[in-house]
Amino acid sequence: MRTRVILDTDPGIDDALAILLLAASKEISLEAITVTHGNTSVDKCLANALRLKDFLGLQGVPVARGASEPLVKSLTVAEETHGDGGLGYAKLPDATSSPSPTNAIDTIIELVHKYPHEITILAIGPLTNIALAIHKDPSIIKLINRVVVMGGSVHYPGNMTPDSEYNVYCDPEAFDIVLRAGFDFTLVPLDVTYKCLFTKKHIEKLAGAKPEIIKFIDDSTRFYMEFHDEYQSIDGCAINDPLAAAILIRPELVTLKEYFMTIELKGEFTRAKTSVDFYNVYKKAPNAKVAMEVDVEAFMDFLIERVKTL
Ligand code: BDR
Ligand code: CA
Repeated sequence: MRTRVILDTDPGIDDALAILLLAASKEISLEAITVTHGNTSVDKCLANALRLKDFLGLQGVPVARGASEPLVKSLTVAEETHGDGGLGYAKLPDATSSPSPTNAIDTIIELVHKYPHEITILAIGPLTNIALAIHKDPSIIKLINRVVVMGGSVHYPGNMTPDSEYNVYCDPEAFDIVLRAGFDFTLVPLDVTYKCLFTKKHIEKLAGAKPEIIKFIDDSTRFYMEFHDEYQSIDGCAINDPLAAAILIRPELVTLKEYFMTIELKGEFTRAKTSVDFYNVYKKAPNAKVAMEVDVEAFMDFLIERVKTL
């Protein structure tokens, strides 16, 4: 049976790569794309999601507008990382598809009730929409099969503050609500995604893919690579989000370890830091499966092989 997925996203260069991967994967039944604020404003992210829907021929997939702001803090965007429009140097035509008449929160609630125990939520942006959906209808918590989140870091430095990862930083209170809800919760943190560096070498390996797909990936990731070079002295770019998508299809790409995880909501310097209790100091049962190792080459090959089929 295909895995029914709601993708909650803020496209976003690496979000776009995750959407490409899902669109290329018959194992996935993409039930909806719900859009959040994050890499840029929710309206720009929505426009990008709709452009990607048309670009990839995802006609049957509703794209729903979600939260424009985090629950408590003020809005953060990352246009220096993803470009003013959110997709780096890539320019896709304006969408002909329209957003769903149902907003992201109600889309999540309706789909979970339509397919009880079947929906996997793949969240690759701030978790505001998921937190609002479970606040509005807590009955969905028990009906969601699994929540897979790209975010946080364990040992790896933060990419937003020294201790915090971008998605978690953008809405720490929402992350806390989702973490505490009691889901089957998987986290794909920077510890593994920052090993997955996409470089010019990988662009060359795309030979054989449709020219417009190569151009899109080249134009979007070139901007992302310039950011990583300038701000983090990294050669290439960390493609965080498609790894979280890939493990829905190829779980063996990562090693998951179960931990009791917390998020710091108060720290002056450490707000939005995710921590795991390695030594079980708190004597709490694990609440998160955390990807701690990744087979980088296998993931890169998988991603490239799949986008060549688009
Ligand atoms: C995450 O933050 C965003 O900028 C990316 O799209 C990814 O989801 C990485 O920290
Ligand atoms: Ca993202």
